[in-house]
Amino acid sequence: TGGVTTIDPGYKNTGSCESAITFLNGEEGILRYRGYSIEDLAEKADFLEVAYLLIFGELPTKEQLDKFYADIKAESHVDEDVKKILDGFPKSAHPMGVLSSLTSALIAFNPSSVNVDSDEDMYKAIVKLLGKFPVLVAWALRKKNGQPLDYGDDNLGYVENILKMMFKKASSDYELNPTVVNALDKLLILHADHEQNCSTSTVRIVGSSHAGLFASISAGISALWGPLHGGANQAVLEMLEAIKEDGGDTKKYMAKAKDKEDPFRLMGFGHRVYKNFDPRARIIKKAADEVLSDLGVEDPILEIAKGLEKEALEDPYFVDRKLYPNVDFYSGIIYRAMGIPVEMFTVMFALGRLPGWIAQWKEMRARKEPIGRPRQVYIGETKRDFVDISNR
Ligand code: SDX
Repeated sequence: TGGVTTIDPGYKNTGSCESAITFLNGEEGILRYRGYSIEDLAEKADFLEVAYLLIFGELPTKEQLDKFYADIKAESHVDEDVKKILDGFPKSAHPMGVLSSLTSALIAFNPSSVNVDSDEDMYKAIVKLLGKFPVLVAWALRKKNGQPLDYGDDNLGYVENILKMMFKKASSDYELNPTVVNALDKLLILHADHEQNCSTSTVRIVGSSHAGLFASISAGISALWGPLHGGANQAVLEMLEAIKEDGGDTKKYMAKAKDKEDPFRLMGFGHRVYKNFDPRARIIKKAADEVLSDLGVEDPILEIAKGLEKEALEDPYFVDRKLYPNVDFYSGIIYRAMGIPVEMFTVMFALGRLPGWIAQWKEMRARKEPIGRPRQVYIGETKRDFVDISNR
């Protein structure tokens, strides 16, 4: 058989590691980072505080958080030559492809971040990544919009500065809207970690070969890009737009989602672990109403989403399979109201997930996990003799 007798496709029933970072209970819809409930953290903490908690295991004191942010700001410069790499992309390039490429390119400009055997080297690589990644995110958007590649303002908070780098116009200063800042801060917290999901498992297995942190994160970005994973938040908006174009005919899309012959799935629904409401979806749905009304945005897409959710929650096909809205179902509606283009939605997911990926990678290396190398059940040809090309 070539090694094992049974396999577990998609690792549906396989535990890959022990971890002390995030706790999920799929039956009850519970999510905790380092023991703190996602509801508390989304309400009471800010994103950089949660990043510190995930990576170092404890909520920081004010002094610890101030030093962490100062160290990140000190490393938030991206080598000007990286702009030449960005220049090589067509404007039509998907920002996730740009982001994974530039994250990998950062290695060439930060060679010391590859071998992080000492705590000091590890810390340096972490603050470099947390400082430079938001710049790459902003540059990916500005490249798409044909705008100058800019920096923000060191006097602003971490999330405020990200928004300024993304949206600052060359001609005028960027007006920070507290509703937008708070909404993005909350969304990034809600995306910050989710135990051994596809992209985190990717970051861990790439890091298990002792590839560097930046290389492992670049691989995680590629895994997140898929529409079955983080790419779903873009696919949800495209689906809701299609339904709107179709006259709001949700029944037709529900039927497609249930038709085994049709590869279409109801994007933003279902989850490998949650067989109940995704607690993040509950918080985001509430935030969507608040943000849109604060911004005075009327978006018919939100009403279509709510209609679709109601239908699915009453449909036996979905109820039997315990398919509920997940984190990606409502998030895009808020991103859009904030002026973020749909191609950037999954980039915003990556921005939120970065501290989780870092924390999981750091834990994997600290626990000296062995290189990931599963086996298989061989189903190919039995032994056969070589045939010279003249006889084929
Ligand atoms: C994320 O893992 C994580 O934690 C991920 C994430 C994170 O924070 O990292 O939470 C982020 O990726 C959320 C999920 C975003 N993806 C989508 O919204 C895409 C649509 N969802 C599906 O593709 C699916 O639900 C998955 C990928 C999320 C989960 O797939 P599973 O666990 O492999 O489940 P499955 O494909 O075996 O489905 C079980 C049944 C099947 O029907 P039967 O064969 O039993 O008859 O449910 C059906 C599926 O056909 N099904 C769906 C469906 N999802 C599952 N049918 C219609 N629409 C859907 N969305």
